[in-house]
Amino acid sequence: MSGLRSDRWFGGDDEVAVLHRVALPARGSGGGPVIGIADTTSDLNPCNAPLAGLMVAAARGIRAAGAIPVRFPVMSLGEDLMKPTAMLYRNLAAMQIEEQVRSNPIDGLVLTAGCDKTVAAALLGAASADVPALLLLSGPRSAPIWRGRPLGTGTDLWRALEERRAGLLDDDAWHELEACLTCAGPGTCTTMGTASTLALLTEVLGLCLPGCTGLDGSSPVAEQLAERTGARVVEMVESGARPADVVTQAALDNALRALAAVGGSTNAVIHLAALAGRLGLDGSLAHADALWRDVPLLADVEPCGRYLAAALPDAGGVPTLLAGLAELAERTAGTGVDLTAVAGDGRPWQQHVALAPRPTADGVLRTAEHPVAPAPTMVALTGSLAPDGCVLKVAAASPDLLQHTGPALVLDDYEDMRRRLDDPDLAVDDDVVLVVRGIGPVGAPGMPEWGMAPIPAPLVRRGVRDVVRVSDGRMSGTSFGTVALHVAPEAQVGGPLAHVRDGDRIRLDVPARRLDLLVDPAELARRAATWRPDAAADLRGWPLLYRQHVGQAPTGADLDVLAAPRPEQRVRVEPTVGRS
Ligand code: FES
Repeated sequence: MSGLRSDRWFGGDDEVAVLHRVALPARGSGGGPVIGIADTTSDLNPCNAPLAGLMVAAARGIRAAGAIPVRFPVMSLGEDLMKPTAMLYRNLAAMQIEEQVRSNPIDGLVLTAGCDKTVAAALLGAASADVPALLLLSGPRSAPIWRGRPLGTGTDLWRALEERRAGLLDDDAWHELEACLTCAGPGTCTTMGTASTLALLTEVLGLCLPGCTGLDGSSPVAEQLAERTGARVVEMVESGARPADVVTQAALDNALRALAAVGGSTNAVIHLAALAGRLGLDGSLAHADALWRDVPLLADVEPCGRYLAAALPDAGGVPTLLAGLAELAERTAGTGVDLTAVAGDGRPWQQHVALAPRPTADGVLRTAEHPVAPAPTMVALTGSLAPDGCVLKVAAASPDLLQHTGPALVLDDYEDMRRRLDDPDLAVDDDVVLVVRGIGPVGAPGMPEWGMAPIPAPLVRRGVRDVVRVSDGRMSGTSFGTVALHVAPEAQVGGPLAHVRDGDRIRLDVPARRLDLLVDPAELARRAATWRPDAAADLRGWPLLYRQHVGQAPTGADLDVLAAPRPEQRVRVEPTVGRS
């Protein structure tokens, strides 16, 4: 194979080339391409545990294809343990991948990922490193039976929490749930949370092999797929297929539509916007909303449906979902999906769709004629409270709250939120709009998933199970409720959210795509004149750098220094041989 990037390290006969060959003798002077395996496993991240075995299989596939596998570590981002949020480190992990490639003799990449932000970081790292790359996904964990049905991680925990706060779930049942969750074993969340959503979108984007979505990472099929992933990356190095060639605007648009069709995580909107930013594509909220308008819910998967992510492979997986979206285009004369976009095996999606099982009227993956819920499942809103936009997952919301006006109850941070909402004596109306602010990308920093604030305790006792919530933060993909998220500009940078006071009227109008603060502009201007951001927290190191460089949610909460490289910067990704 000629013209390898790694030749710049290993070719030649000077002392530097000698040192390089000594450092990696498996490559030597005559070896094949060097394929990096980005390892995101960690004892702190059980969601990625199945990847340990899959990496061995991928390395086998790489060797069998005549290349050299080299494993390198990447910070593992586990949602459950990292505080304030794994999102704070998404860009750091993506930078690690980019810089490992920039500085090392790596010709192609297998990127291991599972838990939410490891997938997002791998997608962004791959886009920026821009060497041929595929992701290897850990797959959902097993689902123990809870109350007679398979346990939906996260989703069932949030439901149980509300029941417990309402006094409907006793301590024994609560502890039984914990024991059940512990039995689930390694792997990602079982519902269409962020991890499963991003796995599915990775497949749609062509950045993993077809068939990965929902696959149990400890199964023989997953091992086989891992081996093929390794071999396929070697093939891609030969053909020169880089992420920027694979993730075209058509592929990104397909992913945005697929996201809506599965009622996927709102977090994916941010990650796709960041990916678009790194590749110079359009991932704006206005563009996304236009693509979402005619897409109904085609996947009957939690938290918006009945089944778990593991049901997807048997239902036909991504090809069957795309078949449903293609059929939708015929019915609505919309743009539909572009099946000329390529899958991870290099073949256009139309070839996979032609061989896939058809969606059905009542199965896990539905026909456009018989959706689980009507369009839209997700919307982007703007208005005086969110001039630069926000996102609301209609499929997880209460239909009767989609047009709602109510008085604000403002919560300024996590402790304030928990203290006031758990107060049994809190004075609160049934039509309240909870405002959770100060938790945007700059505010926390890192944009934690505190946007789905608990229902105030007095309302829970009165039987209320959903209220409108508005936040500059995020919510878990496993969550549900009428929650307007990612409000931009966020409060910490002086967005209108910063000027809301208890009792102000807020109007949500999803059909009109509006979110408005019904306060006289002159009064708002007075409040803005005296407003000051929260005193900067005593930050150092990465959180300080993050806060100084992070952008707002509609542009993906990416760092300004990581936007799409100019052509001359791309050239600098290539190394020059020099003395070490
Ligand atoms: Fe890791 Fe859900 S907590 S995938």
